[in-house]
Amino acid sequence: MKTPKAFYQPLAIGAPAPFRDLPVALERMIHFVPPHVEKMRAKVPELISKVDVVLGNLEDAIPADAKVEARRGFIQMAKDNEFRQTGLWTRVNCLNSPWFLDDLMEIVPEVGDKLDVIMLPKVEGPWDIHYLDQLLAQLEAKSGISKPIMVHAILETAEGVKNVEAIAAASPRMHGMSLGPADLAASRGMKTTRVGGGHPDYAVLSDDSNGAARTAFQQDLWHYTVAKMVDACLSYGLKPFYGPFGDFSDQEACESQFRNAFLMGCLGAWSLHPKQIELAKRVFSPDPAEVAFAIKILEAMPDGTGAVMIDGKMQDDATWKQAKVIVDLARLVASKDSELAEVYGL
Ligand code: GLV
Ligand code: MG
Repeated sequence: MKTPKAFYQPLAIGAPAPFRDLPVALERMIHFVPPHVEKMRAKVPELISKVDVVLGNLEDAIPADAKVEARRGFIQMAKDNEFRQTGLWTRVNCLNSPWFLDDLMEIVPEVGDKLDVIMLPKVEGPWDIHYLDQLLAQLEAKSGISKPIMVHAILETAEGVKNVEAIAAASPRMHGMSLGPADLAASRGMKTTRVGGGHPDYAVLSDDSNGAARTAFQQDLWHYTVAKMVDACLSYGLKPFYGPFGDFSDQEACESQFRNAFLMGCLGAWSLHPKQIELAKRVFSPDPAEVAFAIKILEAMPDGTGAVMIDGKMQDDATWKQAKVIVDLARLVASKDSELAEVYGL
């Protein structure tokens, strides 16, 4: 293991020092764009004002014969637009693919100074992060990039889930993680054909008592993994995200899956369809009634200690901390969204 002193040293002479704290950014939805499609690239200027993160996808869902075009399309869209407060990310191809090296070698020198985060798929362990970390440092140094590019891992293999803490701890370049339920299902041998969400057969049956009709209660297939990811991320100061929800026709189920993730600690999810943008915005912006109650708690306990009763509910140092999480997020949302700022009264 590296010594604490060495941990924050740049990995190449001339590379920028890694961040000590993650930059403050609102990332409620990471919106996926297929950059080889010109019609989609043309929508990027409009998207920038609608979403928190624009991501150029180079990996799965991009046909093998369009990989090079997607990479070039991403470089073009990065050059053609000013992203201002909106994040610019790319999901590169996985480490063992024929495209990963050229993804990095072409994108970083061309648009590395505009790129906030590289999303790395199919991360199995800290060794994957170490490799990307070193390569990025070399490319940043060579290209004279002054702001470090962060790394976001997709948690989508059984091995990755097993090693989730070591992945979180692998580098100060780590931004966070997303659950990748489709690849993870395949990797685990789960018997599903869905991209995220529940399954009607994954249920607990009520007791068989006195011949009364039994009820099946559907359970959340992703609860264990999301909980494990949230603990690994938060203990290392990283951000956890729910990933994709593939059934665009079922907004209700998508909302419920996103909301479970939000309540458990996630800060955003992927939007793969324009329909999911507003939905993610609604779910990952705190509920105005919760914000109002949280503000009451903070105001009733100005120094965050002691115990008070509010609306019949006991509040103490711990609920003060919970309230602060909600109010801090609401302030961040309000700084970007004047409509919600008004609703929150912030
Ligand atoms: C995302 O990449 C997934 O596999 O679900
Ligand atoms: Mg995947």
